[in-house]
Amino acid sequence: MNKPEAILERNLFAPETLTDPFSYYRAVHDAGMKIEHLPEMNTFVVYSYELCSEANTKPDVFSNDFSSLMGREEDAEIMAILEEGWPDEPTLLTADAPVHTRNRKLVNLAFSAPRVNAIESEMRTKSIELIKTFADKGECEFVEEFAIPLPVYMIAGQIGLDNDPKQVKDWSDAAVDRFSQMVDHERKKDCARSLVEYQHYMKGKIDDRRENGGDDLLADLVNARVDGEKPLTDAEIMSIMQQFMVAGNETTTSTLAGGLLQLMRNPEQMEKAKAAAGGRDPKLIGNLVEEALRYETPTAGMWRVVREDTQLGDTEIPKGSTLQLRYAAANRDPAKFEDPDAFDIERKNARAHLAFGKGPHMCVGNMLSRKEMLVAFDELLERLDDFAIADEDAIAVLPNILLRGVTRLPITFSKAR
Ligand code: HEM
Repeated sequence: MNKPEAILERNLFAPETLTDPFSYYRAVHDAGMKIEHLPEMNTFVVYSYELCSEANTKPDVFSNDFSSLMGREEDAEIMAILEEGWPDEPTLLTADAPVHTRNRKLVNLAFSAPRVNAIESEMRTKSIELIKTFADKGECEFVEEFAIPLPVYMIAGQIGLDNDPKQVKDWSDAAVDRFSQMVDHERKKDCARSLVEYQHYMKGKIDDRRENGGDDLLADLVNARVDGEKPLTDAEIMSIMQQFMVAGNETTTSTLAGGLLQLMRNPEQMEKAKAAAGGRDPKLIGNLVEEALRYETPTAGMWRVVREDTQLGDTEIPKGSTLQLRYAAANRDPAKFEDPDAFDIERKNARAHLAFGKGPHMCVGNMLSRKEMLVAFDELLERLDDFAIADEDAIAVLPNILLRGVTRLPITFSKAR
């Protein structure tokens, strides 16, 4: 359909829209525009909840094999660096059936409810430890001092990198930059070096778990066996572990920071959340997590490659196009969520959000991150009081085509009781 006049001049991928896309989404929904065609990018952006969900039921038509989208690495210098490591194979997020199905069966074993429950007390201990580092100061930069270190620490421990969370963050950032394709040649070389360094490190850890076993996600994955399926290869494990590092870090950070920001902006919601914290109403804190996920949607969009001529809603989509499922817009679709721009921790259908995607690729880490955020909010809201934004102008948001989130949030507070 034609672009509505109200947003004719605006472009979703302009940095100012990516930083604050919500008025754009509102205009799109008000105009009934479910899909936008961007011919210059050969892309169709899907804004509607219904059509994002429908596309996820057709993985054969809308493929996750983005490697074909990115093209093969052709730069000789970068290829020479990558040859020092293992092949960077499509797995899990970037694979289609049957590879995806096989990977997912094995990975599901490692992400079981017992594993998540087993690390709940560790999540709580770490959350409390972090809060104690700044509780007496009355102020902190929430992203740097809490929202980054908690998920980085948790995932580092689970993939055998507990001694060096900073290393995890560096490797994870390099993988994001490489994938974004928006960095210069020098940084691309650095990212390739970082990948190879990570692979060699991981190889040692994989060999160790194979020989000695262990009580972490890596050991579960190395030893995961499903009847009739081959175990995962070293290259597959490296690639999957890299996805855990990347997918589990920035997204959880953004939801924690974005959720706290919305609570501070909506004092009546903050009051309800504080009344529920400290184990008094874990269901409501769980729903706060769902609403924060819906409202912030850190994985704002995800690519699909269109494998055959097809139709989605009323739109004809030719083979060879790319689709961008705009989960962040779908989560503000008034056809699904009443008064979608209101932040309401008691929203009845908050959990229906698409922040974790839907269908075969739905986030495998969803139970882990949900639990982590529940524990974090439970402890933060119980131990601290009088939260306030220290400096509105200092709040920073990362504009990125796929990931969006608050990257700086200076706050003040007092110690509870
Ligand atoms: C707030 C936290 C998180 C958010 C918002 C999030 C979001 C998402 C989304 C939207 C997808 C689906 C992508 C698609 O449609 O193609 C996804 C997949 C995935 N996520 Fe998460 N994620 C989070 C946390 C985690 C954690 C903690 C881990 C692991 C430790 C993780 C690992 C993965 C993996 C491996 C996939 C690919 C699954 C597959 O293709 O079968 N995520 N995530």
